[in-house]
Amino acid sequence: MNATKERLIGAAKQARKFSQAKYSRFKVGAALLTNDNTIITGCNVESSSYGLTICAERVALTKALSEGYNQFTSITIFAKDGHFISPCGACRQLLFDYAPDIQVIMTDGHEVKEYPLKELLPLAFDDSNMD
Ligand code: THU
Repeated sequence: MNATKERLIGAAKQARKFSQAKYSRFKVGAALLTNDNTIITGCNVESSSYGLTICAERVALTKALSEGYNQFTSITIFAKDGHFISPCGACRQLLFDYAPDIQVIMTDGHEVKEYPLKELLPLAFDDSNMD
């Protein structure tokens, strides 16, 4: 595994530690990599009004956009040692809106599985649908 992937896994694991998951107890961390090799992390933030919960991926993306980053190469997601998790539909859509060419890296804490977002969200709705 290359050094960048090791760094991304470490960052996603670290971000998971800040997860606010008191309702589901399911902690998730994400590490978004920008084109200039900056890592922006996120964790899931849950609400007592469950539908307001924000996934780790969307926290990372909105943090990054709000800090002026808008070119991304990958997002790494970690939830549990030994388990791979895949981003939910809402996260896929928001990532597609801002980073359609991004690679999605799922890690179980040791190994990675990597997919282009376009493969995970075929026939995506985007700006062109509104022309
Ligand atoms: N969650 C994420 O943060 N990312 C995912 O990819 C899947 C789900 C969160 C949302 C909620 O806080 C908890 O995991 C259980 O669904």
